[in-house]
Amino acid sequence: MVSLVKESKRLMKQQTEKNKSPAWLLTEIAVTKGKELSRKYEVSEELVVSSLYLAHLVFDKEFSGRIQRGHTRSSAALARKYLDKWKVSEKKQKIILNAVEAHHDHVPTKSLVAEVVKNADCFKFVTVKGCIIFLHELGLRKTPFKKSVNYVLRKMNQKKKLLTLKDCKREAEKNCRKIIEIFKSFS
Ligand SMILES: [Fe+2]
Repeated sequence: MVSLVKESKRLMKQQTEKNKSPAWLLTEIAVTKGKELSRKYEVSEELVVSSLYLAHLVFDKEFSGRIQRGHTRSSAALARKYLDKWKVSEKKQKIILNAVEAHHDHVPTKSLVAEVVKNADCFKFVTVKGCIIFLHELGLRKTPFKKSVNYVLRKMNQKKKLLTLKDCKREAEKNCRKIIEIFKSFS
């Protein structure tokens, strides 16, 4: 029996190197938050963490480009092939694939696992650390500083709106005030 978390992590590492995005440090933020929320909401950490790794198997550096826009569906399609290969049960696959597809706002979540995944993923952009990592990432991609600052703030607002769990909303609200204060001081 393969370890689902280990295999998902290994696969995402491989895909991140190939796609040159998203930044691995951002994936780690989501996974850390996912583990914390799994305990808090008493859902399977295995399903949450593997879904978080599999959610961005297909990705691209081009913001809002075709690949980024379709990454929830295409990552789920690629994840399905591996879940079959790893002989993951149909029941688990259903939950994971919905969590991957529903981690943005286009597809409804069908389980608490998916809800936790969606909220944990947002923390990549509603934490000071995540926003600084993302700003650094934009710099590596030669995005002008001012444009990067505005982009990070836009992304932060976008992700804040996606949050659904009460305590995540509260925590993000506090973080976002701090992020705005820091980033506004850059201009
Ligand atoms: Fe995503």
